[in-house]
Amino acid sequence: MNPSPFSRREFLAAAAALAAAPLLGAPAIARAASPHVLPPLPYGDAALEPVISARTIGFHYGKHHKAYLDNLNKLVAGTDMAEMSLEKVILATAGVPEKAGVFNNAAQVWNHTFYWAGMKPNGGGKPTGALAEKIDAAFGGYDAMRKELAAAAVGQFGSGWAWLVYDKGKLRVTKTANADTPIAHGLTPLLSVDVWEHAYYLDYQNRRSDYVAAVIDRLLDWEFAQQNMPA
Ligand code: FE2
Repeated sequence: MNPSPFSRREFLAAAAALAAAPLLGAPAIARAASPHVLPPLPYGDAALEPVISARTIGFHYGKHHKAYLDNLNKLVAGTDMAEMSLEKVILATAGVPEKAGVFNNAAQVWNHTFYWAGMKPNGGGKPTGALAEKIDAAFGGYDAMRKELAAAAVGQFGSGWAWLVYDKGKLRVTKTANADTPIAHGLTPLLSVDVWEHAYYLDYQNRRSDYVAAVIDRLLDWEFAQQNMPA
């Protein structure tokens, strides 16, 4: 795939709007109903190398993310969910057993858009400013937060996600299984780490901890996390 025709700024704004939608009211992009569209990557396929290879991006974004999107559009077509935004579909189907297929695909579309937006070439490092203060208050410092986030990502049994979330004025780390997403639980995600095997197996095989450490230390975009903080 070629680098996106959209600017990184536009993608980040859209993704941040997606993240903020449950709390702040859905802005234009988040109100869009089906057919839902695959947001372009904010960087080229090889931009995250050597941490994440172009081959992994090709499958993960081009096949897995797209498949969730295509499945979602098929599942909501002709139903009362066809006119709903992605966030509304997620909230309307969360915890409803007979709607699990719709929820899983909708949540995975959202989770992956958020994951791509939360990384950048030469990311990582330590956040500064208001976000750093929030991390200090909640965890006692960046190193403790990093340790907890990595432990959540490595310790998630099977497929799922690790998240840094904003929860009632405070930051905390959480993890979700399979397609589950913090926005279905009233939380505001700031950053995520995808720990489905499709995220790392081509590059790291069974060494999930190496992938997690590299993503946290070299790719996470703390400016994106700051943008996701509620005002
Ligand atoms: Fe994934």
